[in-house]
Amino acid sequence: MAEEMKKKEEYVLECHGISKAFGGTQALKDVELLVRAGEVHALLGENGAGKSTLMKCIIGLHQQDEGTIQFEGKPYSVKGPVEALNAGISMIHQELNPEPHLSIAETIFLKREDTRGIFLNKKAQNERAEEILRKFDFPHSAKTLMKELTLAQMQMVEIIKAVSCNARLIIMDEPTSSLDSEETEHLFRTIRDLKSKGVAIIYISHRMEEIFEICDHVSVFRDGTYVGERSMEGVTRDELISMMVGRKVENVFPKTDCEIGDVVFKVEGLSGKGFEDISFEVRKGEILGISGLVGSGRSETMRGIFGMDPITAGQMYLEGKEIKIKKPSQAIKQGICMVNEDRKNFGLALHRSIRENMALPTLPLKQKAPLLNKKQEEKDCLDMGKMLTLKAASIEHEAFSLSGGNQQKVVLAKWLLANPKVLILDEPTRGVDVGAKSEIHSLMCEFAAKGMAVIMISSELPEVMGMSDRILIYHEGKINGEVKREEILSGDENQESILRRAFGGK
Ligand SMILES: Nc1ncnc2c1ncn2[C@@H]1O[C@H](COP(=O)(O)OP(=O)(O)OP(=O)(O)O)[C@@H](O)[C@H]1O
Ligand SMILES: [Mg+2]
Repeated sequence: MAEEMKKKEEYVLECHGISKAFGGTQALKDVELLVRAGEVHALLGENGAGKSTLMKCIIGLHQQDEGTIQFEGKPYSVKGPVEALNAGISMIHQELNPEPHLSIAETIFLKREDTRGIFLNKKAQNERAEEILRKFDFPHSAKTLMKELTLAQMQMVEIIKAVSCNARLIIMDEPTSSLDSEETEHLFRTIRDLKSKGVAIIYISHRMEEIFEICDHVSVFRDGTYVGERSMEGVTRDELISMMVGRKVENVFPKTDCEIGDVVFKVEGLSGKGFEDISFEVRKGEILGISGLVGSGRSETMRGIFGMDPITAGQMYLEGKEIKIKKPSQAIKQGICMVNEDRKNFGLALHRSIRENMALPTLPLKQKAPLLNKKQEEKDCLDMGKMLTLKAASIEHEAFSLSGGNQQKVVLAKWLLANPKVLILDEPTRGVDVGAKSEIHSLMCEFAAKGMAVIMISSELPEVMGMSDRILIYHEGKINGEVKREEILSGDENQESILRRAFGGK
């Protein structure tokens, strides 16, 4: 009995036998999750395994169909995030959704029970927020609007909010997917600090290195079921992967060498907001990797090329002919496609079906022979879904019902189906699980082999190094060096030498 009591007290959160279905999709089946006070607990599983769904049950965004949750030894049930926060649980979401026109102070005090009085008094609210921000060395004043912050800073505000609400459990759903290495380090320092204050953290990430660096225990889900829990000490990467996928993932970066042909696309002296005097070329069959810190101008350049932002100087050439692109539709027409970093704002029409999303860019071509193409479209979408191991009940379902990583696969599918000459991929495997990641990598090679020129921005060094024929390294809006695949294979260049240039070194 005494033994039993002791065991119970050890956990700050206990989820037992949780099941949740959405229509015909059983997202969770009888899963467990036990989190100790003051630990960082990783939740690992492939895309669609049910991780976010369980978290949403915990903060009351969903109600579980079956099962019980205990928090700090007491039965716990809440109707929504505000109630959860007041009970001591806060969640930093996979896709941050700030209210852009609120100030930092307003965000921190939004919908809080303990501060209703203060909410009416702007001045007092600002002062108190300043005080809290100072404790975190936050570089902006409390009056700054959320829309002026970087993603990392918005996330920090969410964390500050959670801490200032005295949350004892903070859920972080893929917190680093849009952070660069420096920001990630900063987050890890914050996490260690929270931990030392006894705050428990549930940490969801597809990046294995991070889980080994920051977590104490890991629970693994597969297909909505609970596979098991391990202590991070003593578990290996391979063991975790096989728990996750139920099979071995052989080749993490399946780069194949294919014949590299003529120059397909070339830019000269390209400048715009956030980048300056960029020149490079990419050839048929080549995968050109673009490395650098977040905010170094990589995405900005590609947005410029794709016609999303204005170009202020420079020329672009496609197959030797100068082209002008003022908007994305012109780029697509010429055969330049781009998979965006931010799938929520640019990549997907969340309330359209998966099939409609996939077919969107190729629509103008198909309209010429609509009848003939309906069946073909369906087949193409199904094939593509299969190739990308898309986890969806049907391609007729709305895109928003997919898990984060599966949405990314749909975005990719839609551009692959358009069969472009130049394919620009901005963080193509962000939030994608290990298995699907290597499938996306295989596909990239396949498309390169067909003669496409692929440009890939990635913040994951192992990914750029594993997949690229050539890597351009960005630093503060300019190209600060180029590395060839041979130099990586021979060991002349490595993670460190690339990082050094990303930070401005030579
Ligand atoms: N609102 C919803 N309506 C219908 N189905 C949903 C909804 N939310 C999630 N699902 C389904 O539940 C399953 C689990 O999704 P969940 O988002 O929990 O996965 P995940 O483990 O967080 O994946 P990822 O790593 O890709 O974020 C998926 O099959 C998904 O399509
Ligand atoms: Mg998720």
